Amino acid sequence: MPKNAEPGIGGRGAYRLTNGRDLHRTRNVGAHEKPSAKILGLKRLEDLTERIRICIKCPLHQYRTKAVPGEGSPNAKVMVIGEAPGKQEDQKGRPFVGNAGRYLEHVLEGTNFDRADLFITNVVKCRPPSNRTPKMEEVETCTSLYLFHQIELLDPKVILLLGSLAVKKMLGIKSVEEARGRFIEHEGRKYLASYHPAVRFYRGDLAQKIKEDFALLQTELKKLEIDIAQHSDEPGKQRKSLIRPQPKRGLF
Ligand code: URA
Repeated sequence: MPKNAEPGIGGRGAYRLTNGRDLHRTRNVGAHEKPSAKILGLKRLEDLTERIRICIKCPLHQYRTKAVPGEGSPNAKVMVIGEAPGKQEDQKGRPFVGNAGRYLEHVLEGTNFDRADLFITNVVKCRPPSNRTPKMEEVETCTSLYLFHQIELLDPKVILLLGSLAVKKMLGIKSVEEARGRFIEHEGRKYLASYHPAVRFYRGDLAQKIKEDFALLQTELKKLEIDIAQHSDEPGKQRKSLIRPQPKRGLF
């Protein structure tokens, strides 16, 4: 990625230059040509991302360095929703890039999909001071303005909820324990709940359960014959899921 660029939506290799030009757009749409639904959807997602970056609709904007809209493929079959950005995320403007993110990547290592196959975001897009739990008004504002629209535009096959805030907000279920271990159909969408990856740092016993939940997700996608890999079009860059079928070792 060039120096003057930041990661963006649009799939592997997509990035946005800081001067606002998108590098993944290579085809000119003529004035007489109607943009396809796919291009329109992508444009709406990008507009939403821009609105999140400059949002001042709730008090959290006063404390942030960068808002964290979320990132991943606009074609992602799986959307991951965490709680809120932490310190590293706030500095980088990207979700799950701190300790919890490293653990999430470790868990993904045990599956046949990559981080780039997912669209990762949070219930709230700005870091609460001292990482406190987001307040109800912050959650309501951020989800009604942004998260629900992201879900609509991405239209994922499965939404993976990480942690009790996401589970409570999206499913109205109070605890992860109560919701996890099964797929839940709710308001026309399919959800899987799991613990927040950060739980591993103070409840080591739950680490195994997180891995089990990801294994369940992988099995279900296979059952539904959903190929979650966003196959790379970059020559020579084969995706993990293409070159490594099902792991045979005892990963979980
Ligand atoms: N925890 C979250 O819930 N989200 C992040 O992006 C990072 C840590």
